[in-house]
Amino acid sequence: MTESRFLKACRREPVDVTPVWFMRQAGRYMSEYRALRERYSLLDICRAPDLATEVTLQPVRRIEVDAAILFSDLLLPLEPMGLPFDFIKGEGPQLERPISSPGDIDALRDFDPRVALAHVLEAITLIQRELAGRVPLIGFAGAPFTLASYAIEGGHSNNFARTKSLMYGHPDAWHRLCSRLAMVVADYLGAQIDAGVDAVQVFDSWVGALSPADYREFALPHTQRIFDAVKGRVPTIHFGTGTSTIFPELREAGGDVIGVDWRIPIDLAWERIGSDRAVQGNLDPTLLLGPTARMLTETSDILDRVGGRPGHIFNLGHGILPSTPLEHVQMLAQYVHSASRRGR
Ligand code: CP3
Repeated sequence: MTESRFLKACRREPVDVTPVWFMRQAGRYMSEYRALRERYSLLDICRAPDLATEVTLQPVRRIEVDAAILFSDLLLPLEPMGLPFDFIKGEGPQLERPISSPGDIDALRDFDPRVALAHVLEAITLIQRELAGRVPLIGFAGAPFTLASYAIEGGHSNNFARTKSLMYGHPDAWHRLCSRLAMVVADYLGAQIDAGVDAVQVFDSWVGALSPADYREFALPHTQRIFDAVKGRVPTIHFGTGTSTIFPELREAGGDVIGVDWRIPIDLAWERIGSDRAVQGNLDPTLLLGPTARMLTETSDILDRVGGRPGHIFNLGHGILPSTPLEHVQMLAQYVHSASRRGR
């Protein structure tokens, strides 16, 4: 498994062809996923190890991906902390009682992921048995800023007004919340690693909403605790969107691999991140809707900009959109492999 091209690229070792996987590679754009969702809710799937295993494997069977990602959701740790939620059709997640005051933060509970999220760990065991070494398995969790934003906003937000009001207005309470989240996530990722994942990705999807100074003050110390806690155990990926102005801060927080979205050319991003880290990215997911000629031209441009330097994992700048045709995803993965074959 340590010989997989995905894990090699995480360690910036030379590979035969550029490894590729896709954020949200399991999901609504696949007919077999939609068929399962007619019978089960998203949370049903996340809570049943056999269903989570099936969905994790669906893209591995159909697409030339070099890694599987555990099927779960970023928000699962919120419920055992005392923040129950559900997914509302067409709207995304909705918390029953979002955090609205410092007092709500002090009422949060700590929990043992080996008990409260045992089903996730069991899914990891089942998935690894099924994968049988075919490709490595990526585990994941959310970073404190992104998790706090859901805990405070109660769902998705465009401007993070409530989150930032609490952050600026009650900085002590904000730091208490984020250190609780960091502790929970570090423990949860440690448990995923014990259960057998081969790498972990920390999603700080919305942290690009912060200025460099605010990132440093309000997010960096907490995210850093998570990376420090798992350091050296398995390769780590640090992902966010809209982060081109905070690459130095993101790298300081941690991650062997830094995620790059499509808003910046990947070679410029890598220069800012530093050559001692690997990079993952960075095709605009909208390009997968077509026309495919443009999707492939842009892909070729990314590969040219990287120029075969060891330490590139091909991915999208964010997750696959639900209206994406499966054939485009298949074509893209094949193209990355054939166009990047070393010695071409
Ligand atoms: O294939 C994979 O990438 C693994 C599965 C995965 C899911 N969620 C399943 C899911 C992963 C890695 C996540 C992470 C996640 N969840 C993030 C971080 C990644 C990102 O996109 O930035 C966030 C912010 C969440 C919270 C969340 N879950 C939202 C905002 C939504 C609604 C948005 C949407 O696309 O509808 C979800 C729902 C969700 N989680 C789906 C899937 C496949 C949607 C599918 C469904 O309803 O069946």
